Amino acid sequence: MTSPHAFWVAGRQATGADSFDVTNPYDGRLVGTVSVPTDAQVEEAVGAAHAVRDEFAATPAHVRAAALDHVVRRLGERTEEIAQLISAENGKPIKWARGEVGRAVSVFRFAAEEARRFNGGEAQRLDTDLGGTGRLGLTRRFPRGAVLGIAPFNFPLNLSAHKVAPAIAVGAPIILKPAPATPISSLILGELLAETDLPAGSWSVLTVPNDKMPALVQDERLPVISFTGSGPVGYAIMESVPRKHCTLELGGNGAAVVLGDYASDEDLDWAATRIATFSNYQGGQSCISVQRVIADASVYDRLVPKIVAAVEALVTGDPADATTDVGPLVSEDAAKRVESWVDEAVEAGAELLTGGKRDGATYAPTVLADLPDDVKLSCEEVFGPVMSLQKVDGEAEAFAAVNSSKYGLQAGVFTHDLQTAFRAHRALEVGGVIIGDVPSYRADQMPYGGAKQSGVGREGVRYAMDDYTYERVLVLTGLAL
Ligand code: SIN
Repeated sequence: MTSPHAFWVAGRQATGADSFDVTNPYDGRLVGTVSVPTDAQVEEAVGAAHAVRDEFAATPAHVRAAALDHVVRRLGERTEEIAQLISAENGKPIKWARGEVGRAVSVFRFAAEEARRFNGGEAQRLDTDLGGTGRLGLTRRFPRGAVLGIAPFNFPLNLSAHKVAPAIAVGAPIILKPAPATPISSLILGELLAETDLPAGSWSVLTVPNDKMPALVQDERLPVISFTGSGPVGYAIMESVPRKHCTLELGGNGAAVVLGDYASDEDLDWAATRIATFSNYQGGQSCISVQRVIADASVYDRLVPKIVAAVEALVTGDPADATTDVGPLVSEDAAKRVESWVDEAVEAGAELLTGGKRDGATYAPTVLADLPDDVKLSCEEVFGPVMSLQKVDGEAEAFAAVNSSKYGLQAGVFTHDLQTAFRAHRALEVGGVIIGDVPSYRADQMPYGGAKQSGVGREGVRYAMDDYTYERVLVLTGLAL
């Protein structure tokens, strides 16, 4: 029997009394056993994070940037090994897992760059009124305190990177809590951070079971919580700690709008291919995957067969195979839930154009039309490889359809018209509008986060750095300005 994967307490590797198994959702094989920290080990990590907060905030930028640069190098060197691990524990096709490691490299690189330029300070003259004569304000940002980062299973490395890298960049201690289904790829970050000179206590990676999380969430020594995951859990966290600073990156039911000017065969081929790919990448388990396609009546009938053909061309199968486009969902239960939602929609009158079948944890890429308004697929985030098609008349109706959702993470608008692009930017109630592509486009330096029930706050390295810090002004008096 191999020994369990250790977790990281205040920069040190440790094991606890209990452990749990992590299995590959595709074939059920054991990927690894992971040790669970005891209450005393959790206490040690939190105490150390709190104790080191002033020292870490005062660490020179070059020390923090060098540590981040080190992670960039080592992630690059270990890309293939880490990608295979992500693929094994998450079920993500290997080509997408390699992409995820590449994105995590970028996140740490952006963080190293931002660490070097962050907080130069802003001077503001205050002698604009008599009482301010000879006075200057100097504003800098300081960490709010230690961060509790709670990562999801769908991008176990990169969404952990989005919590950890900005914290190091600003000098805020971080305790990372990986998702129970995919902890091993988050624990690898610990291996890389342990090779740096960051102060002990400035980071921990704790595989705390979900039922032990309320105590950690409540701990006043962790004043910042950065959570990515489901709406109910996210809002329950925020409501349980109303005085903490919470960033919630929650769900979405991403809309791709195809407007009437996007009408050539080449346009529709591009839109159909992008929609098919990004409704189904990682089994649709991305908060910005395409769930809703809203197409103008003038292009709808030509677009639909192209989408169906592009979806049917996707290769579903073993995530370890380099040709696989669509792997399993994270668990058989997740696939069963998706199946029940599709069945409900079809029973209520939706037309099934392709897909609609489950094999263990794998759900076939599915396209539906004429979805009734009151079924779960119309109202909730499916987090599976399912899209619905809706015909609309014109831009205003298309934008109203996008906004009819309670979510608002990102939207894609296929148009060539610059004026339409600006109108979409103004009208759509989402955190990001992508012109000429799907809502699933994300560059890791962009501000990323939701409107409405898709969340609170923004990630994207520089934006998370703002989130983890607050402005403090220094007023200097008696100056010859
Ligand atoms: C998410 O699912 O929210 C993350 C999407 C991404 O980073 O591409």
